[in-house]
Amino acid sequence: MRIDILTLFPEMFAPLKESILGRAQKENKLTINVVNIRDYTEDKHLKCDDYPFGGGAGMVMMAQPIGSCIEALDPGHGARRIYMSPKGQTFRQQKVFELLSYEHIILLCGHYEGVDQRAIDLFIDEEISIGDYVLTGGELPAMVVADCLARYVDGVISTSSLVDESFSDGMLEYPQYTRPVEYRGLTVPEVLRSGNHARIDAWRREQSEEITARRRPDLFTGKKGK
Ligand SMILES: C[S@@+](CC[C@H](N)C(=O)[O-])C[C@H]1O[C@@H](n2cnc3c(N)ncnc32)[C@H](O)[C@@H]1O
Repeated sequence: MRIDILTLFPEMFAPLKESILGRAQKENKLTINVVNIRDYTEDKHLKCDDYPFGGGAGMVMMAQPIGSCIEALDPGHGARRIYMSPKGQTFRQQKVFELLSYEHIILLCGHYEGVDQRAIDLFIDEEISIGDYVLTGGELPAMVVADCLARYVDGVISTSSLVDESFSDGMLEYPQYTRPVEYRGLTVPEVLRSGNHARIDAWRREQSEEITARRRPDLFTGKKGK
C-alpha cells in the first residue's frame, strides 16, 4: 500500500518514522510519502493560502497547489483521495477495512480555516473526520488514519495480534496482564495462570462481552465471535 500525505507542514510527520510504522517502511512493506503542497504552488511568492471570500477570520488554503499536487501524484485517478475534515464521516474500524481495498491512498491535510471548496469538489472522493471536535490541522488526523491502515498491511504486525482486538468483531477487548503476578495488592486472575486454554478463552470471551455491554452498549450484539 502507498499512502501519500499532502500537507503544508511535512515536519509534523516524524512519528511515522518510529516504531512499527518506521520498521514497516524500512522493510518496504508500506510506503508513506509525505508531500509538501507548497512545492506545487504557481505563486511566485510560494503562497498557498489567502483570505476568505465573504470575510471572516483566518486563511483558506488555495485550490491550485492542492489540485496540481494531487494530479501530479495520481494522474489517472487510481487512488482513493481523502480530505481530513471535521465535516467528514466519522472514522471507524469498518472504514479501515473498506480503505484496505485501495492500493493507493491520498490524505489531504487542511490547515487554518480549511481548504477552498473547489479543491474538494474537483479532486476529493470522500471526507473523513476523526471525531466531533476541531483540531488546528489535518496532520494528526492523517497520522491516525495512516497508522490504522498500516497495521493491516501484510507483514506489518502479526495476524494473531489483530484477531481479538477491540472492534475486530464488534466487541471491546478483554483485560490484559503481564508480570509480576502481584502488583500493589492486585493479583492477575488465577484463570490466566492456569494453563487451561479452554478456560482462558471462556474467561476472555465473558470479560469482553461484559465490558462491551457496560461501556459500549451501542456496539454490543451478543456473543463474541458469533
Ligand atoms: C481549524 S480546522 C478547520 C475547521 C473548519 N473551519 C470547520 O469549522 O469545519 C483546520 C483543518 O484541520 C483539519 N481537522 C480539524 N479537525 C478535524 C477532525 N476532527 N477530523 C479531521 N480533520 C480535522 C481539517 O483538515 C481542517 O481543514
